[in-house]
Amino acid sequence: MTIETDRLRDRVAAELLRTRERTTLLTEAVDDGDLVRQHSPLMSPLVWDLAHVGSQEELWLVRDVGGRDPLRPELDELYDAFKHARRDRPGLPLLTPVEARKYVAQVRDKALDVLDRARIDDGRRLVADGFAFGMIIQHEQQHDETMLATHQLRAGSPVLAADPPPAVIAPVTGEVLVPGGPFTMGTDTEPWALDNERPAHQVDVPAFHIDRAAVTNGQYAAFIDAGGYDDPRWWSPAGWDHRQAAGLVAPAHWQRDGDGWSATTFGRTARVTPSEPVVHVCFHEAEAYAKWAGKRLPTEAEWEKAARWDPATGRSRRYPWGDETPEPRHANLGQRHLRPAPAGAFDDGASPLGVQQLIGDVWEWTSTDFTGYPGFTAFPYREYSEVFFGPDYKVLRGGSFGTDRNAVRGTFRNWDYPIRRQIFSGFRLARDA
Ligand SMILES: [Fe+2]
Repeated sequence: MTIETDRLRDRVAAELLRTRERTTLLTEAVDDGDLVRQHSPLMSPLVWDLAHVGSQEELWLVRDVGGRDPLRPELDELYDAFKHARRDRPGLPLLTPVEARKYVAQVRDKALDVLDRARIDDGRRLVADGFAFGMIIQHEQQHDETMLATHQLRAGSPVLAADPPPAVIAPVTGEVLVPGGPFTMGTDTEPWALDNERPAHQVDVPAFHIDRAAVTNGQYAAFIDAGGYDDPRWWSPAGWDHRQAAGLVAPAHWQRDGDGWSATTFGRTARVTPSEPVVHVCFHEAEAYAKWAGKRLPTEAEWEKAARWDPATGRSRRYPWGDETPEPRHANLGQRHLRPAPAGAFDDGASPLGVQQLIGDVWEWTSTDFTGYPGFTAFPYREYSEVFFGPDYKVLRGGSFGTDRNAVRGTFRNWDYPIRRQIFSGFRLARDA
């Protein structure tokens, strides 16, 4: 065994542990009634997410990588996300909270045993660089963010607490010019990148301007005050239909408060902070705001070029600030704070061109449909991303305050329906040069 392999094992074990601590926090913050309850038809009961995390870990790490016998084969179907829509999950014969906790702990013991004994370089692509472990760690982290979104939809007194995000170092306004020309989009080298981030390929992006910060609550409130929700000129036909049918008048969780707005965040209601990025808006709202503001949403390629392209070297970096793994000084990630940070709070996370907070705070809607890059191959299974390719889903980039530092990078792609806003979604603006 090489030192490198030892180091990879240590890293995997540490990440598994750190991630499970967050899962435990999210599932122990509420009582059993809240764990089995469905807080929104858009979400699973928290106890489903918990056992599903264990079920995927069992399938990939214990059975596939480890070649071990199934612990609970009868659970496979119950916790297969493709077999049961979220709205139907409360009616399933799910494990109770006690059973689910016991199951995930048993799976974890086996997975750690596999990690100790498995050859991390057995020649299989699934195992190279610890990919299967990285995939399962990211999967649990993604469900942690989903469970955090469920917490936001839960009624009742607050159960989560965190320090407020850092204050503004220097206010960030305006836009930067990103020169036209090719850049490398996607990756061949990021070891834990998922199939849809691959392969690396050249994309020629015409010059464009992009805002240095995401659209803030204050800016968004001006759109509402200007009658933006009542004027079909700003909305696409599909967006206007949805705005009418759903009765949208403001971001989710906002309420009128005198001549301003309050928002309820994890059970606490307070005036919205004008300098924080707006969150819980759908793609249609983002698109309408952009049109009203005389701009547009960035394409996915524009977003990634703004985030990764280094004009000094022409190289694409892992993150806007360079190749260094995210530290707290770079970005608001990992539920360290329970809200996005104001524009200008993360000077150290800026891109070479001075675009800020691309990573963390809020997922940013792009104008691009979710599709495979040229040369895409599904790995390790079609259901990870390929089955979602097509015009139904829009790409979101950059992660939110609820995204783990492992589960986002300059190449990471998220996707959702253009009407969804239970996710921690915001946006920034761009325009042609
Ligand atoms: Fe999942």
